[in-house]
Amino acid sequence: MKVRGVVRPPGDKSISHRAVMLAALARGTSELDGLLTGADVKSTARVLRQLGAKISTVRDGATVTVQASRLSHPASRLNCGNSGTTARLLLGILAGQRFRATLTGDASLRRRPMRRVTEPLRAMGAEIQETGGDTLPLTIRGGRLRPLTYTTPVASAQIKSALFFAALTGNVGVTIREPYRSRDHTERLFVHLGLGLHEREGAIVYEPSDRTVVPPFRLSVPGDASSAAFLVAAAVLAEGGELVIETVGVNPTRTGFLVVLGRMGARVERVNLRDEGGEPVADLVARPAALRGTEVSAAEVPTLVDEVPVLAILASRAAEGSETVFHEVGELRVKESNRLELIAANLRAVGVEAEARGNDLFVCGTTRRPIGRVETARDHRLAMAFAVLGTVPGADVQLSERASVAISYPQFFRDLKRIRGTGQGKRQA
Ligand code: S3P
Repeated sequence: MKVRGVVRPPGDKSISHRAVMLAALARGTSELDGLLTGADVKSTARVLRQLGAKISTVRDGATVTVQASRLSHPASRLNCGNSGTTARLLLGILAGQRFRATLTGDASLRRRPMRRVTEPLRAMGAEIQETGGDTLPLTIRGGRLRPLTYTTPVASAQIKSALFFAALTGNVGVTIREPYRSRDHTERLFVHLGLGLHEREGAIVYEPSDRTVVPPFRLSVPGDASSAAFLVAAAVLAEGGELVIETVGVNPTRTGFLVVLGRMGARVERVNLRDEGGEPVADLVARPAALRGTEVSAAEVPTLVDEVPVLAILASRAAEGSETVFHEVGELRVKESNRLELIAANLRAVGVEAEARGNDLFVCGTTRRPIGRVETARDHRLAMAFAVLGTVPGADVQLSERASVAISYPQFFRDLKRIRGTGQGKRQA
């Protein structure tokens, strides 16, 4: 197939969650443009409404208004759906509130570890009751919090952000160190809103002022680099043409996949660089390229943690026999599915040599046509990554389902179809 045209990915999922949450804590009415309309952000809006915030309907093209009010005891359980970010950041917000709330989620979210967040929140003084061990449902009662100095066991923006939200709502200081720098959207938004956050000796420090109040704000959310990655990958695997992907967030803590792609032989241009609410934004120009294998280091993983599925797909199309190794990607086991095992198993199912060994993932490039059935386990990023593999000429990749793309990229299949030019090998994913 050939690619062509100009496409705009949906709003950034991470920034959308944080923007809605901070707006719900602000004093006054905030206006948010370009919010992701995926199911995960709708989950965040829904649970915040249960807590008393007035949030207009999250739908495409609409400016979403968030009218904050003092959060209060919810009448029923807070269902975070499929969204780990909603659950973990919300635990942080609730740690500073003097009422009880119970959080739950769908079957996938109820399997995901929560102690990474509940342990430090307990150390700050939140009361948290577990019902099934390390997982949801959990009941939290916030209250008077203590300051905390903490080193996160894994580089996770969700842990870090939960602690900043707890510090903000509990009006205490926190100092956080992480093994590698994870995405810094919370920090950027705090700084953008004038909340007391700075770096000191390799740590990120939040210090409340006497009266820390979140001001109401306007924000235009950039396009999601993680969603753009699927479009970039489709362009790189195409037989000709050029694709422009507009208004993509290019925060360096999120664009490791562009760095890795460069090493693999695909240079993606960034043009029209600008700033939106403290975040760098650019248009990307992606073209077909011949790929070679590479090694992805543990230090790079946090900057591309959600892009491993699509990078693994690209690695499978590298020169025959050239290997790509993703080091220390054990975190992929506790994402929306066990991505580490499923990437390897699904690549094997379509005829690619791939293996998860310990916490590393090995993928061997091949020019053979990918043919076979893929189990997505209702994981949006697995569905999109393998749909991209299905665009390779002669491919026949059957997905177990496609509906999961609604989590982060509801218009994915429409956009994938739209960018395909009239070149040969045109087939449906
Ligand atoms: C996210 C952080 C990452 C990422 C997730 C979104 C966020 O998770 O995988 O999709 O918005 O903070 P971890 O913090 O668990 O690495």
